[in-house]
Amino acid sequence: KKQQAFQRDFLNWYQQNQRDLPWRHFHDPYHIWLSEIMLQQTQVHTVIPYYQRFLKAFPTIADLAATDEATLFKAWEGLGYYSRARNLQRAAQQICTDYQGVWPQTATELEKLAGIGPYTAAAIASIAFDAPEPAVDGNAYRVFARLLQIKADVAQPKTRGIFAAAIRPLLPTTGAGDFNQATMDLGATICTPKDPACLLCPVQQYCQAYQTGTQLDYPVKTKKPK
Ligand code: ADE
Repeated sequence: KKQQAFQRDFLNWYQQNQRDLPWRHFHDPYHIWLSEIMLQQTQVHTVIPYYQRFLKAFPTIADLAATDEATLFKAWEGLGYYSRARNLQRAAQQICTDYQGVWPQTATELEKLAGIGPYTAAAIASIAFDAPEPAVDGNAYRVFARLLQIKADVAQPKTRGIFAAAIRPLLPTTGAGDFNQATMDLGATICTPKDPACLLCPVQQYCQAYQTGTQLDYPVKTKKPK
């Protein structure tokens, strides 16, 4: 049926067009987690050299847990938002101490770690542990608001749950990590905010906004009250 055809076309497009990014050569939680934390406030092309430098400094999570603050901040230098680095080390210590070095595999458990919110938990659970969790970030808001004409206001915190519930039935039982990363790539390269390349879109035929010419009306976002 239509959901399966969508899934197949979307994942085939990703297999053939995915960006070659260094963290996509790994599926262990340490590499995935580090990349997701760095990507929270920093663009992909900026993150790449920092990601590689950081892994040279701390090849394993035990190295990160055991380092001193000066070495940690030196390795983070240039990325900004140093609370991310502090949380990174705190979570590394939680894993090494509270979990004896064994990562929890569910989104709910991952959210108990320092610096890991619902998006990052879903990204790690799906990419590293193949859990069928939707990773709802700005790309997912845009892509699925358009595909499904979801009118919920993405400036409202409770809207995340509305999108997660809408995306969940579309996820493959295995390969949700690829599905989530396909959403990121589509959002970054084709389903862009201002000038989406709908004619090149692999899932154009499933897109409700495209069919009605309303791509630019989505996602709905009110200005945050100050
Ligand atoms: N942005 C956040 N996570 C990402 C990932 N895994 N690949 C590409 N862009 C991302």
